[in-house]
Amino acid sequence: MLELENVWKSYRVGALGSKRLTAVRDVSFAIAPGEVLSVVGESGSGKTTIGKMVLQLISVTNGSIRLNGEDITAARHSRRKAYYRRVQGVFQDPFSSYNPIFKADRVLETVRESFFPESKRSEWDGKVERTLLSVGLDPGAVLRKYPHQLSGGQLQRMLIARALLLDIEVLVADEIISMLDASTRIDVLNLLGGLKQRGLGVLFITHDLSLANYISERVIIMRHGAVVEMGATGKVFGDPRHPYSRNLLASVPQLHRKWSDAPTELEALEPDGDRDIAPPPLREVDEDHWAAIGP
Ligand SMILES: Nc1ncnc2c1ncn2[C@@H]1O[C@H](COP(=O)(O)OP(=O)(O)OP(=O)(O)O)[C@@H](O)[C@H]1O
Ligand SMILES: [Mg+2]
Repeated sequence: MLELENVWKSYRVGALGSKRLTAVRDVSFAIAPGEVLSVVGESGSGKTTIGKMVLQLISVTNGSIRLNGEDITAARHSRRKAYYRRVQGVFQDPFSSYNPIFKADRVLETVRESFFPESKRSEWDGKVERTLLSVGLDPGAVLRKYPHQLSGGQLQRMLIARALLLDIEVLVADEIISMLDASTRIDVLNLLGGLKQRGLGVLFITHDLSLANYISERVIIMRHGAVVEMGATGKVFGDPRHPYSRNLLASVPQLHRKWSDAPTELEALEPDGDRDIAPPPLREVDEDHWAAIGP
């Protein structure tokens, strides 16, 4: 469904954009319908940059992104609208997606204005109510409220509802759980499970490895803009092959172990080399399990 092939992104940085920073290096992966693919890795490894490229918020420096075979990197502006009917994003900080001077449900109304201007008011309102209920929101409690009158979890769910009003195929979720409290997290996670059953593909960007383990079929581990390991979640997390993946997994606190018990020994990693050259290739180490390690 959604495929990235040898995707690179460099940003211009420094005074007057005199230098370049390669944020994403030669990344390839695919998401199938009904699949959650998690992207994990250290801060600055390029996760959000990938999400933004998929959402066409920033350009792709090199490589291609295809939706159902159609290359979207070459798409003209006029094709954007059709694309956003099929691909939408929800971000970490739900407050930033709302304008504080407008009522929160304006984000739903703008979907009607842009995509369904011909729809009858009563039919549209019915659709909004059903969609809000489907994401666990009480329409009476959230409609006609200002963003500051709603909780972070409610605002986030309203953004998911917004995406669903469009019958999307792919949802990009960037750290959407991190700012929610534990019980709201479970609700939003269950909601994502429901989306999966409806056949949506989800690109789930997170710092939280246990969350990635819980929610995703497949996982990608990134370091310095490149993929170091990817494949079926059970294989990557159960039998990590790259030293970086092993370090990352060793740093997850375990409920049954006290912090003071056995300090974790981390493996030495190769230093961050030249970001402008292609990263080490991925090698298939098992069925649906690749790692950037030598033979
Ligand atoms: N607009 C920009 N201009 C220049 N550099 C940028 C820009 N956005 C991101 N970067 C750089 O690109 C790299 C990757 O950033 P990105 O936001 O994708 O990381 P991330 O993996 O999402 O990190 P985090 O886990 O902290 O959210 C970082 O080095 C960052 O400083
Ligand atoms: Mg990020």
